[in-house]
Amino acid sequence: MKDKYSRRDFFKTGMGISLAAMLTGGKNLIRGEETAGRMRVVASGNGIRATEKAMELLREGKDPLDAVIAGVNIIENDPNDISVGYGGLPNEEGVVELDASVMHGPTHNGGAVASLRNIKNPSKVAKLVLERTDHALLVGKGALRFAKAHGFKEEKLLTDRSRKIWLRRKEMLSDRDFWYPPKSEELEPELQSYISTHGTINCIAINAKGDLAAVTTTSGFFYKIPGRVGDSPIIGAGLYVDNDVGAAGSTGRGEANILNCGSYQAVDFMRRGFSPEEACLRALERIAQKSKLLPRLLNKDGLPRFGLSFYAINKKGEYGGASLWSGRKFAVHDGKENKKKPLAYLYKRK
Ligand code: GLY
Repeated sequence: MKDKYSRRDFFKTGMGISLAAMLTGGKNLIRGEETAGRMRVVASGNGIRATEKAMELLREGKDPLDAVIAGVNIIENDPNDISVGYGGLPNEEGVVELDASVMHGPTHNGGAVASLRNIKNPSKVAKLVLERTDHALLVGKGALRFAKAHGFKEEKLLTDRSRKIWLRRKEMLSDRDFWYPPKSEELEPELQSYISTHGTINCIAINAKGDLAAVTTTSGFFYKIPGRVGDSPIIGAGLYVDNDVGAAGSTGRGEANILNCGSYQAVDFMRRGFSPEEACLRALERIAQKSKLLPRLLNKDGLPRFGLSFYAINKKGEYGGASLWSGRKFAVHDGKENKKKPLAYLYKRK
């Protein structure tokens, strides 16, 4: 059943124009000086180690973009996280293809790579696209050549664990091909839950000066068609930063997000005076509305049958996040403690 805007305070402000937006006449009232000392880092639920690391670096005075990239590198390097980087789940041919983007608030500059093979830290390559080229997005072989030109070493990214999950999916796809069905004992029960997984990490930070930055990195949909690019490397979809307003990023079904420029929308709602949580909910609501035009994306109740979440921080250091469906969490370091918090949501899972 639809449980719109799970937070009571959003009910109060969400029906019509928010109080903040009314008071500001739609103008941005957020000023940089108000943020001094309000360091914050948020990330998707799989990013609790990233928020810890990023906050450590913010405290040392590091640039917020360097901080969030160092944070997500921990997850990219972890073979046990099968949603990003090394050990990420592969495409239908068993090849790991990675997408990532970064955006730096103070310079309003961004960089991204898509369908990058054999390099486990696409977020670092995305930052080099920002720093060392006049481009915003490099893909495929060009992105790989660029990474190698900067000294990145090619590595095999498919771990044995991810290979087994891929093989199981391949064997269970059809009884009309030459692959026998999987033997159940060939894959430990815990791995079966990953059969239709996709995952991503987004991480956003604001430093003591009120400067914002964001990164999103992923191995994309498991078993995707080779060359498929998700929302993560698309600036405006997988993330967006406006240093005068705030930053937002996403995880979940990339196609729905690309078609609606969701992170841009979330930042734009913050510009109009909505809180980060309200802004994320409103971006999701628009995506849910548009998805109704595509019946294959709907469940039997006529609601989106996919997952999508947004995370956001505004210029004041206020943070929030929201998901289409209940039950999800995000990682927050508020300068004092690092913990997972529930995301607001549009629809309550039955
Ligand atoms: N959000 C990650 C993807 O769709 O690839």
